[in-house]
Amino acid sequence: MPFANVLDGQLHYVERGSGTPLVLVHGFPLDHSMWQEQLEGLSNRFQLLAPDLRGFGQSVVTPGLATMQLMADDIANLLEAAGIREPVVFCGLSMGGYVAWQFAIRHRERLAKLILCDTKAVGDSPETAANRIGLATRVQKEGPGFIAETMIPKLFATATIAANAPSVEITRQVILRSDPKGIAAASRGMAQRPDVTPQLSRIDVPTLLICGEHDAISPPAEMRGIAQAMPQAKFVEIAGAGHMAPLEKPAEVNSAIAEFLSR
Ligand code: MLT
Repeated sequence: MPFANVLDGQLHYVERGSGTPLVLVHGFPLDHSMWQEQLEGLSNRFQLLAPDLRGFGQSVVTPGLATMQLMADDIANLLEAAGIREPVVFCGLSMGGYVAWQFAIRHRERLAKLILCDTKAVGDSPETAANRIGLATRVQKEGPGFIAETMIPKLFATATIAANAPSVEITRQVILRSDPKGIAAASRGMAQRPDVTPQLSRIDVPTLLICGEHDAISPPAEMRGIAQAMPQAKFVEIAGAGHMAPLEKPAEVNSAIAEFLSR
């Protein structure tokens, strides 16, 4: 499995297939494995690159603060290291979407199209930001168990949990394996991420917004509003899915992506 040098360490990533480069960037506090169904279902058409963001999976853990800007720069460095010169399709889920906004703003020349899954454009309220700082302190004392407990019911639709879908337990194990220092750094980074709402009208690449019908973290109405504020955006709601739409309804998400990229 390849590693790429970034500013101060190495980023691990998985690469599959050939064709247009499509970068799949995971949410918090997960790793590249959340894209397993896309890595399997889309590799016949695209060159897929699924990195572990710094602090997660097998990538470098840098304690302190990992901003969304730094993570976006990491992806640009990864593309350089992987020899990918042509503009890419950047697909990010939730925190991966926060990174996608920063990639679009800071590395426009490297971007062909955007796919935003279950994410937000606004920054945190003071209360949410304070909770994230609290989480950063607590996870380093207690480990990630409490995060798995509180996040799993928010990540998946009630029906996905009730059906005992294997993806739920797999996701719980990914959270439990995550490095507390990496979780803390990303949590602090999300707390101070900028509100990109004022920039939406200037993000001019073709964009697909995907949202699970029952997403409790970034609900469909909010994502529909983002699409309306962007010049070239299309919104697709995934029936029956929650926040983890690509894992919960992979066939529907893969066909929305394939259809968007065939245009
Ligand atoms: C995620 O799925 O990445 C998180 O829900 C993002 C967040 O906490 O805002």
